[in-house]
Amino acid sequence: MTVCLQPDVIFVRAEVLSAHLSAINPSESPTLMSQKIYLAGKLVSKEQAVVSVYDHGLLYGDGIFEGIRVYSKKVFRMKDHIDRLYESALAIRLTIPLTPAEMTRALEETVAANNIVDGYVRLVVTRGAGSLGLDIRRTSNPQVIIIADSISLYPEELYEKGMEIITASTIRNHPGAVSPRIKSLNYLNNILAKIEGTDADCQEALMLNHLGHVAECTGDNIFIVKNGVLKTPPTDAGILEGITRNVVLELAAAEGIPVQETTLIRHDIYVADECFLTGSAAEVIPVNKLDGRVIGGGSPGPITKQLRARFQKYVREA
Ligand SMILES: Cc1ncc(COP(=O)(O)O)c(C=O)c1O
Repeated sequence: MTVCLQPDVIFVRAEVLSAHLSAINPSESPTLMSQKIYLAGKLVSKEQAVVSVYDHGLLYGDGIFEGIRVYSKKVFRMKDHIDRLYESALAIRLTIPLTPAEMTRALEETVAANNIVDGYVRLVVTRGAGSLGLDIRRTSNPQVIIIADSISLYPEELYEKGMEIITASTIRNHPGAVSPRIKSLNYLNNILAKIEGTDADCQEALMLNHLGHVAECTGDNIFIVKNGVLKTPPTDAGILEGITRNVVLELAAAEGIPVQETTLIRHDIYVADECFLTGSAAEVIPVNKLDGRVIGGGSPGPITKQLRARFQKYVREA
Protein backbone atom coordinates (compact mmCIF):
# COMPACT_ATOMS: atom_id res chain seq x y z
CA MET A 1 0.00 0.00 0.00
CA THR A 2 1.47 3.38 -0.99
CA VAL A 3 1.17 5.81 1.88
CA CYS A 4 2.42 9.42 1.87
CA LEU A 5 3.03 11.10 5.19
CA GLN A 6 2.39 14.83 5.25
CA PRO A 7 2.44 17.13 8.30
CA ASP A 8 -0.99 16.42 9.81
CA VAL A 9 -2.62 14.03 7.45
CA ILE A 10 -1.91 10.54 6.21
CA PHE A 11 -3.07 9.82 2.66
CA VAL A 12 -3.59 6.56 0.86
CA ARG A 13 -3.37 6.62 -2.89
CA ALA A 14 -6.68 6.25 -4.77
CA GLU A 15 -5.03 3.57 -6.91
CA VAL A 16 -4.83 1.45 -3.74
CA LEU A 17 -8.52 2.09 -3.13
CA SER A 18 -9.13 1.27 -6.78
CA ALA A 19 -7.20 -2.00 -6.43
CA HIS A 20 -9.39 -2.95 -3.45
CA LEU A 21 -12.55 -2.02 -5.32
CA SER A 22 -11.58 -3.90 -8.46
CA ALA A 23 -12.14 -7.08 -6.45
CA ILE A 24 -15.89 -6.41 -6.69
CA ASN A 25 -16.19 -6.44 -10.42
CA PRO A 26 -13.44 -7.59 -12.73
CA SER A 27 -11.96 -4.44 -14.21
CA GLU A 28 -8.39 -4.12 -15.35
CA SER A 29 -6.15 -1.92 -13.26
CA PRO A 30 -5.61 1.54 -14.76
CA THR A 31 -3.32 1.36 -17.75
CA LEU A 32 -3.71 4.73 -19.41
CA MET A 33 -0.61 6.91 -18.97
CA SER A 34 -2.63 10.09 -18.86
CA GLN A 35 -5.49 8.70 -16.83
CA LYS A 36 -7.46 11.38 -15.03
CA ILE A 37 -9.37 10.60 -11.88
CA TYR A 38 -12.16 12.80 -10.57
CA LEU A 39 -11.59 13.61 -6.93
CA ALA A 40 -13.02 16.44 -4.83
CA GLY A 41 -14.30 18.38 -7.80
CA LYS A 42 -11.15 18.14 -9.94
CA LEU A 43 -9.67 15.86 -12.55
CA VAL A 44 -6.27 14.86 -11.22
CA SER A 45 -3.56 12.36 -12.10
CA LYS A 46 -3.53 8.94 -10.45
CA GLU A 47 -0.60 10.09 -8.30
CA GLN A 48 -2.53 13.11 -7.06
CA ALA A 49 -5.70 11.14 -6.41
CA VAL A 50 -5.35 10.56 -2.68
CA VAL A 51 -7.83 10.22 0.17
CA SER A 52 -7.27 10.16 3.91
CA VAL A 53 -6.62 6.85 5.66
CA TYR A 54 -9.10 8.16 8.24
CA ASP A 55 -11.83 8.05 5.61
CA HIS A 56 -14.62 5.82 6.87
CA GLY A 57 -14.88 4.38 3.37
CA LEU A 58 -11.52 2.72 3.98
CA LEU A 59 -11.89 2.12 7.73
CA TYR A 60 -15.41 0.65 7.64
CA GLY A 61 -16.54 0.23 4.04
CA ASP A 62 -18.79 3.16 4.92
CA GLY A 63 -19.81 4.54 1.56
CA ILE A 64 -21.53 3.61 -1.65
CA PHE A 65 -20.63 2.98 -5.26
CA GLU A 66 -21.84 2.30 -8.78
CA GLY A 67 -20.24 0.18 -11.51
CA ILE A 68 -21.21 1.67 -14.83
CA ARG A 69 -20.61 0.78 -18.48
CA VAL A 70 -19.72 3.16 -21.27
CA TYR A 71 -20.70 2.12 -24.79
CA SER A 72 -19.68 4.22 -27.79
CA LYS A 73 -18.57 7.08 -25.48
CA LYS A 74 -21.99 7.20 -23.79
CA VAL A 75 -22.66 6.33 -20.16
CA PHE A 76 -25.18 3.48 -20.23
CA ARG A 77 -28.39 4.08 -18.26
CA MET A 78 -26.89 7.15 -16.57
CA LYS A 79 -30.13 8.19 -14.86
CA ASP A 80 -30.71 4.70 -13.40
CA HIS A 81 -27.21 4.64 -11.90
CA ILE A 82 -27.54 8.18 -10.52
CA ASP A 83 -30.94 7.34 -9.02
CA ARG A 84 -29.63 4.15 -7.41
CA LEU A 85 -26.58 6.00 -6.03
CA TYR A 86 -28.73 8.67 -4.38
CA GLU A 87 -31.11 6.02 -3.02
CA SER A 88 -28.16 4.14 -1.50
CA ALA A 89 -26.96 7.44 0.00
CA LEU A 90 -30.37 8.13 1.49
CA ALA A 91 -30.47 4.65 3.03
CA ILE A 92 -27.11 5.09 4.77
CA ARG A 93 -27.76 8.77 5.66
CA LEU A 94 -24.90 10.03 3.54
CA THR A 95 -25.18 13.48 2.04
CA ILE A 96 -23.49 13.49 -1.36
CA PRO A 97 -21.76 16.86 -1.85
CA LEU A 98 -23.03 17.14 -5.47
CA THR A 99 -26.52 17.39 -6.87
CA PRO A 100 -27.57 14.59 -9.23
CA ALA A 101 -27.14 17.03 -12.16
CA GLU A 102 -23.61 17.92 -11.01
CA MET A 103 -22.79 14.23 -10.55
CA THR A 104 -24.04 13.50 -14.06
CA ARG A 105 -21.78 16.23 -15.46
CA ALA A 106 -18.78 15.00 -13.44
CA LEU A 107 -19.27 11.49 -14.82
CA GLU A 108 -19.54 12.72 -18.39
CA GLU A 109 -16.46 14.92 -18.00
CA THR A 110 -14.40 12.08 -16.53
CA VAL A 111 -15.37 9.72 -19.35
CA ALA A 112 -14.52 12.37 -21.96
CA ALA A 113 -11.22 13.35 -20.28
CA ASN A 114 -10.08 9.73 -20.42
CA ASN A 115 -11.19 9.19 -24.03
CA ILE A 116 -13.26 6.19 -23.04
CA VAL A 117 -15.11 4.76 -26.01
CA ASP A 118 -16.14 1.40 -24.53
CA GLY A 119 -15.21 1.01 -20.91
CA TYR A 120 -16.17 0.98 -17.29
CA VAL A 121 -16.63 3.67 -14.67
CA ARG A 122 -16.40 3.18 -10.94
CA LEU A 123 -18.21 5.92 -9.06
CA VAL A 124 -17.47 5.92 -5.33
CA VAL A 125 -18.77 8.14 -2.54
CA THR A 126 -17.12 7.66 0.83
CA ARG A 127 -18.35 8.93 4.19
CA GLY A 128 -15.21 11.07 4.44
CA ALA A 129 -12.48 11.41 7.03
CA GLY A 130 -13.45 11.11 10.66
CA SER A 131 -12.17 9.80 13.95
CA LEU A 132 -11.33 6.15 14.46
CA GLY A 133 -14.78 5.63 16.00
CA LEU A 134 -18.02 4.78 14.21
CA ASP A 135 -19.85 8.04 14.89
CA ILE A 136 -20.72 9.62 11.55
CA ARG A 137 -21.13 13.02 13.24
CA ARG A 138 -17.34 13.07 13.56
CA THR A 139 -16.82 12.66 9.81
CA SER A 140 -16.61 15.43 7.29
CA ASN A 141 -16.05 15.87 3.57
CA PRO A 142 -17.55 12.84 1.86
CA GLN A 143 -15.29 12.06 -1.07
CA VAL A 144 -16.59 11.62 -4.60
CA ILE A 145 -14.19 9.52 -6.68
CA ILE A 146 -14.77 8.68 -10.34
CA ILE A 147 -12.43 6.21 -12.05
CA ALA A 148 -12.93 5.67 -15.79
CA ASP A 149 -11.07 2.65 -17.09
CA SER A 150 -11.03 -0.23 -19.53
CA ILE A 151 -12.88 -3.42 -18.67
CA SER A 152 -11.92 -7.07 -18.88
CA LEU A 153 -14.89 -9.28 -19.55
CA TYR A 154 -15.30 -12.98 -18.84
CA PRO A 155 -13.60 -15.13 -21.50
CA GLU A 156 -15.64 -15.31 -24.75
CA GLU A 157 -15.79 -19.10 -24.38
CA LEU A 158 -18.06 -18.73 -21.33
CA TYR A 159 -20.53 -16.65 -23.36
CA GLU A 160 -20.56 -19.32 -26.07
CA LYS A 161 -20.65 -22.43 -23.90
CA GLY A 162 -22.05 -21.21 -20.59
CA MET A 163 -20.56 -20.79 -17.15
CA GLU A 164 -20.53 -23.28 -14.30
CA ILE A 165 -21.50 -21.96 -10.87
CA ILE A 166 -21.92 -23.38 -7.38
CA THR A 167 -24.14 -22.38 -4.49
CA ALA A 168 -22.13 -20.66 -1.76
CA SER A 169 -22.74 -21.60 1.86
CA THR A 170 -22.48 -17.89 2.72
CA ILE A 171 -26.00 -16.45 2.52
CA ARG A 172 -26.75 -12.99 1.17
CA ASN A 173 -26.92 -10.24 3.80
CA HIS A 174 -30.19 -10.31 5.75
CA PRO A 175 -32.20 -7.32 4.45
CA GLY A 176 -32.79 -6.34 8.08
CA ALA A 177 -29.01 -5.99 8.60
CA VAL A 178 -27.54 -4.33 5.50
CA SER A 179 -30.11 -4.33 2.73
CA PRO A 180 -28.68 -5.77 -0.52
CA ARG A 181 -30.58 -2.92 -2.23
CA ILE A 182 -27.81 -0.61 -0.92
CA LYS A 183 -24.76 -0.74 -3.20
CA SER A 184 -22.47 -0.27 -0.26
CA LEU A 185 -18.66 -0.19 -0.23
CA ASN A 186 -18.82 -3.07 2.23
CA TYR A 187 -18.81 -6.07 -0.10
CA LEU A 188 -17.42 -8.64 2.33
CA ASN A 189 -20.65 -10.63 2.13
CA ASN A 190 -20.17 -11.05 -1.61
CA ILE A 191 -16.40 -11.52 -1.36
CA LEU A 192 -16.82 -14.44 1.08
CA ALA A 193 -19.19 -16.13 -1.36
CA LYS A 194 -16.89 -15.34 -4.29
CA ILE A 195 -14.00 -17.07 -2.45
CA GLU A 196 -16.16 -20.21 -2.24
CA GLY A 197 -16.74 -19.93 -5.98
CA THR A 198 -13.10 -19.47 -6.92
CA ASP A 199 -12.10 -22.31 -4.54
CA ALA A 200 -14.41 -24.49 -6.63
CA ASP A 201 -12.92 -23.13 -9.88
CA CYS A 202 -16.12 -21.22 -10.63
CA GLN A 203 -16.17 -17.58 -11.68
CA GLU A 204 -19.48 -16.89 -9.95
CA ALA A 205 -21.38 -18.29 -6.98
CA LEU A 206 -25.09 -18.35 -6.25
CA MET A 207 -26.19 -16.84 -2.96
CA LEU A 208 -29.40 -17.83 -1.17
CA ASN A 209 -31.22 -15.52 1.22
CA HIS A 210 -31.94 -16.11 4.90
CA LEU A 211 -35.08 -18.07 3.91
CA GLY A 212 -33.14 -20.43 1.65
CA HIS A 213 -34.59 -18.85 -1.50
CA VAL A 214 -32.45 -17.90 -4.49
CA ALA A 215 -31.21 -14.31 -4.17
CA GLU A 216 -28.48 -13.50 -6.68
CA CYS A 217 -24.84 -14.18 -7.49
CA THR A 218 -21.90 -12.32 -5.95
CA GLY A 219 -21.87 -9.62 -8.62
CA ASP A 220 -24.75 -10.54 -10.93
CA ASN A 221 -28.51 -11.13 -10.90
CA ILE A 222 -29.89 -14.52 -11.95
CA PHE A 223 -32.62 -15.54 -14.40
CA ILE A 224 -34.08 -18.87 -15.52
CA VAL A 225 -36.35 -19.89 -18.37
CA LYS A 226 -38.92 -22.64 -17.71
CA ASN A 227 -41.52 -23.64 -20.30
CA GLY A 228 -41.00 -20.40 -22.21
CA VAL A 229 -41.42 -18.15 -19.14
CA LEU A 230 -38.53 -15.94 -17.99
CA LYS A 231 -38.25 -15.91 -14.19
CA THR A 232 -36.08 -13.95 -11.76
CA PRO A 233 -36.26 -13.38 -7.99
CA PRO A 234 -38.18 -10.26 -6.89
CA THR A 235 -36.37 -7.39 -5.16
CA ASP A 236 -37.78 -8.52 -1.79
CA ALA A 237 -35.72 -11.73 -2.12
CA GLY A 238 -32.86 -9.54 -0.85
CA ILE A 239 -31.04 -8.63 -4.05
CA LEU A 240 -29.41 -5.64 -5.61
CA GLU A 241 -31.95 -4.29 -8.09
CA GLY A 242 -29.59 -4.62 -11.01
CA ILE A 243 -29.78 -2.12 -13.82
CA THR A 244 -28.95 -4.83 -16.37
CA ARG A 245 -31.67 -7.00 -14.77
CA ASN A 246 -34.22 -4.27 -15.30
CA VAL A 247 -33.11 -3.68 -18.90
CA VAL A 248 -33.38 -7.43 -19.62
CA LEU A 249 -36.89 -7.50 -18.09
CA GLU A 250 -37.89 -4.59 -20.35
CA LEU A 251 -36.33 -6.17 -23.45
CA ALA A 252 -37.98 -9.53 -22.73
CA ALA A 253 -41.39 -7.88 -22.39
CA ALA A 254 -40.81 -6.00 -25.66
CA GLU A 255 -39.91 -9.31 -27.36
CA GLY A 256 -43.17 -10.82 -26.12
CA ILE A 257 -41.46 -13.23 -23.72
CA PRO A 258 -43.63 -13.83 -20.61
CA VAL A 259 -41.82 -12.58 -17.50
CA GLN A 260 -42.30 -13.40 -13.81
CA GLU A 261 -40.53 -11.89 -10.80
CA THR A 262 -41.06 -14.81 -8.47
CA THR A 263 -39.55 -16.73 -5.58
CA LEU A 264 -37.12 -19.39 -6.76
CA ILE A 265 -35.40 -22.20 -4.93
CA ARG A 266 -32.28 -24.05 -6.03
CA HIS A 267 -34.41 -26.90 -7.40
CA ASP A 268 -36.01 -24.46 -9.86
CA ILE A 269 -32.58 -23.71 -11.25
CA TYR A 270 -31.52 -27.37 -11.42
CA VAL A 271 -34.60 -28.21 -13.51
CA ALA A 272 -34.69 -24.99 -15.57
CA ASP A 273 -34.57 -25.12 -19.36
CA GLU A 274 -32.12 -22.19 -19.40
CA CYS A 275 -30.26 -20.02 -16.92
CA PHE A 276 -28.25 -16.82 -17.27
CA LEU A 277 -26.76 -14.02 -15.19
CA THR A 278 -26.87 -10.26 -15.75
CA GLY A 279 -24.62 -7.45 -14.60
CA SER A 280 -23.03 -4.25 -15.88
CA ALA A 281 -19.68 -5.98 -16.28
CA ALA A 282 -20.90 -9.43 -17.43
CA GLU A 283 -23.88 -8.16 -19.51
CA VAL A 284 -25.89 -11.37 -20.22
CA ILE A 285 -23.93 -14.57 -19.59
CA PRO A 286 -25.34 -18.12 -19.86
CA VAL A 287 -25.03 -20.63 -16.99
CA ASN A 288 -24.77 -24.30 -17.95
CA LYS A 289 -24.26 -25.98 -14.57
CA LEU A 290 -25.18 -25.34 -10.94
CA ASP A 291 -23.71 -27.53 -8.20
CA GLY A 292 -22.74 -30.18 -10.78
CA ARG A 293 -26.29 -30.36 -12.24
CA VAL A 294 -26.39 -29.72 -16.00
CA ILE A 295 -29.03 -27.09 -16.81
CA GLY A 296 -31.24 -27.64 -19.86
CA GLY A 297 -29.18 -29.13 -22.66
CA GLY A 298 -25.91 -27.94 -21.08
CA SER A 299 -25.44 -25.13 -23.58
CA PRO A 300 -27.00 -21.66 -23.95
CA GLY A 301 -30.72 -21.93 -24.79
CA PRO A 302 -32.67 -19.99 -27.43
CA ILE A 303 -34.20 -17.35 -25.13
CA THR A 304 -30.81 -16.67 -23.49
CA LYS A 305 -29.26 -16.23 -26.94
CA GLN A 306 -32.12 -14.02 -28.10
CA LEU A 307 -31.88 -11.76 -25.04
CA ARG A 308 -28.10 -11.57 -25.22
CA ALA A 309 -28.27 -10.52 -28.87
CA ARG A 310 -31.08 -8.05 -28.12
CA PHE A 311 -29.08 -6.60 -25.21
CA GLN A 312 -25.94 -6.20 -27.38
CA LYS A 313 -27.99 -4.31 -29.96
CA TYR A 314 -29.74 -2.18 -27.35
CA VAL A 315 -26.56 -0.95 -25.64
CA ARG A 316 -25.30 0.41 -28.96
CA GLU A 317 -28.60 2.16 -29.69
CA ALA A 318 -29.50 3.49 -26.22
C1 LIG B 1 -24.50 -8.12 -5.80
C2 LIG B 1 -24.78 -7.65 -7.18
N1 LIG B 1 -25.91 -8.04 -7.77
C3 LIG B 1 -26.22 -7.67 -9.02
C4 LIG B 1 -25.39 -6.84 -9.75
C5 LIG B 1 -25.77 -6.40 -11.13
O1 LIG B 1 -26.19 -5.07 -11.09
P1 LIG B 1 -26.04 -4.13 -12.36
O2 LIG B 1 -26.79 -4.79 -13.46
O3 LIG B 1 -26.66 -2.85 -11.93
O4 LIG B 1 -24.59 -4.02 -12.65
C6 LIG B 1 -24.20 -6.39 -9.16
C7 LIG B 1 -23.32 -5.48 -9.91
O5 LIG B 1 -22.39 -4.91 -9.44
C8 LIG B 1 -23.89 -6.79 -7.86
O6 LIG B 1 -22.76 -6.38 -7.27
